Amino acid sequence: MITVPEFYKRKIAQQKISMITCYDSSFATIVNESPIDVILIGDSSAMVMHGFNSTVNADANMIETHVAAVARTAKNKFIVADMPFLSNRMGISTATEIAGRFIKAGAHAVKIEGIRGCEEMVRHLVDTGIPVMGHLGLTPQSVNQFGGMKVQAKTASEQEQLLQDAKAFETAGAFSLVLECVPNQIAKTVTESIHIATIGIGAGVGTDGQVLVLQDLLGFSPNFKPKFLRQYLNGYELFKNAFEQFHLDVVQENFPNEKESYHENFKNHQ
Ligand code: KIV
Repeated sequence: MITVPEFYKRKIAQQKISMITCYDSSFATIVNESPIDVILIGDSSAMVMHGFNSTVNADANMIETHVAAVARTAKNKFIVADMPFLSNRMGISTATEIAGRFIKAGAHAVKIEGIRGCEEMVRHLVDTGIPVMGHLGLTPQSVNQFGGMKVQAKTASEQEQLLQDAKAFETAGAFSLVLECVPNQIAKTVTESIHIATIGIGAGVGTDGQVLVLQDLLGFSPNFKPKFLRQYLNGYELFKNAFEQFHLDVVQENFPNEKESYHENFKNHQ
């Protein structure tokens, strides 16, 4: 399993880090057997698992439940839990209490969107023994401030701000940093300007690693096709076809067949 010190070693050795989201035990079984380095219990769970149209609807109970479900199964993986909307803005003790719940549920670190106003809190969590992954660029919890899900850090002054914020995360003790939807050149500049590993999503190939939402990577959201996304499977079609086939088999009495049925002298349930 990758560890916090290993993140630094990977950056120095220029060995990329892979991270995907995972929210349930079935997928955790598969991810656990894969070479993926890190599992993120993101607040995108509010959207892909619970049907909300924004990540602001995630709360501590939701994230904690998904952390526990995944951690029970994915014993070989480093697990990062998202601090949900507002949880890091209601004082250091509230943030510490929520982050502590996630660690006790099985996470190894927490992720926090934005650093301005949170420097002391990040330092406190790190000093408490809770590793912190930062998140900058398009931070979806601030979607209303941004006026939509838009590429960030396009102007020189926004890029300078991004660089300063990245350095502030590093100074506060964060061990890594997600950069979301920013031009690839500034993502590379940030990556080369700090000593902690950057993990990109929509930030080009110059970061120290990449992250994707599992449902997006597997093609479960046919209408969500941002430029940065590569779909490795057409999961939507694949699963729909399986459900259609099951329905057909039921209505045509093709399921269950003789082998799939119990007879009077059956010995066990296998
Ligand atoms: O919640 C999430 O899925 C995330 C990733 C997009 C980085 O924060």
